[in-house]
Amino acid sequence: MEPIIQTEHLSHIYSAGTPFEHGALVDVDFTAYRGEYLGIIGHTGSGKSTLIQHLNGLLKPTSGRVLYEGQDIWESKERTRETRFHVGLVFQYPEYQLFEETIYKDIAFGPKNMGLDEKEIDRRVREAAQFVGLREELLDKSPFELSGGQKRRVAIAGVIAMEPSVLILDEPTAGLDPVGVEEILGNIRDYHQAKNATIIIVSHSMEEMARTVDRIVVVNDGRIPFSGAPREVFAHGDELEAMGLGVPAMTRVFHRLRAMGVDIDASVYTTEQARDAILARLGRGQTEKGAV
Ligand SMILES: Nc1ncnc2c1ncn2[C@@H]1O[C@H](COP(=O)(O)OP(=O)(O)OP(=O)(O)O)[C@@H](O)[C@H]1O
Ligand SMILES: [Mg+2]
Repeated sequence: MEPIIQTEHLSHIYSAGTPFEHGALVDVDFTAYRGEYLGIIGHTGSGKSTLIQHLNGLLKPTSGRVLYEGQDIWESKERTRETRFHVGLVFQYPEYQLFEETIYKDIAFGPKNMGLDEKEIDRRVREAAQFVGLREELLDKSPFELSGGQKRRVAIAGVIAMEPSVLILDEPTAGLDPVGVEEILGNIRDYHQAKNATIIIVSHSMEEMARTVDRIVVVNDGRIPFSGAPREVFAHGDELEAMGLGVPAMTRVFHRLRAMGVDIDASVYTTEQARDAILARLGRGQTEKGAV
């Protein structure tokens, strides 16, 4: 696997030299690999937003480096600017940052900044709207006429329209109803597949992570204590618990079953895996006893 974004010994201190000085990131080595679907999870205030805002040069490290395709993104002004086009960031509650008079103009804002011609901008706006399931006839409407969930789609489309190689989303499903959550996650998956993009998604929800990402990076108190495939991360149940995170409910049930002496695969974190583990257990029961 080839790294696409890395941080080396990244530290960030807010309000350095004042009584409000706060070390939000401490010596963080982070890697995202090309094409992966990566989740970042951590308690409120652990440093997730601070970390991802460094990945596209929105925040500058207090110390340490941020590399995009092996190059320091702060090496020159041009490099920082370029990085912002390759690494797209959708903020937490991005719907509050819409400001243009039409949805079309809002989505076109990023591509325009990139200096693309009208025809290419138009193509990108329409394609991005399609990715997030916004109908053509909405494009001329004001974003302020939309529901909260729809506004969020416009904001996501605005970043997608820049066709970033790395798409970072800070809690994109926060505050949405279950249907809205599934739709947004589906939109992100479509973008990932269609463009072979790298996705970095911040979430509070272990369940959501378990279902969607290839790898999870855990952030706690400005550090990354561990990362790995969901299965590996959920094996740290006690440590996660201590960070106020916990494992998915399904995993908890299966751990309890094992603790009660039931011979069942406990490395389960989705409903589908639970079904398979139960069926496997029932199958074994049949061959052992002739019946369950
Ligand atoms: N602009 C700022 N000035 C001072 N301190 C800040 C600033 N932004 C964040 N912090 C502090 O830095 C720490 C990390 O904040 P950050 O927003 O990165 O956390 P987070 O993991 O994204 O939290 P949440 O899950 O609530 O979004 C917190 O203690 C926060 O209070
Ligand atoms: Mg945050």
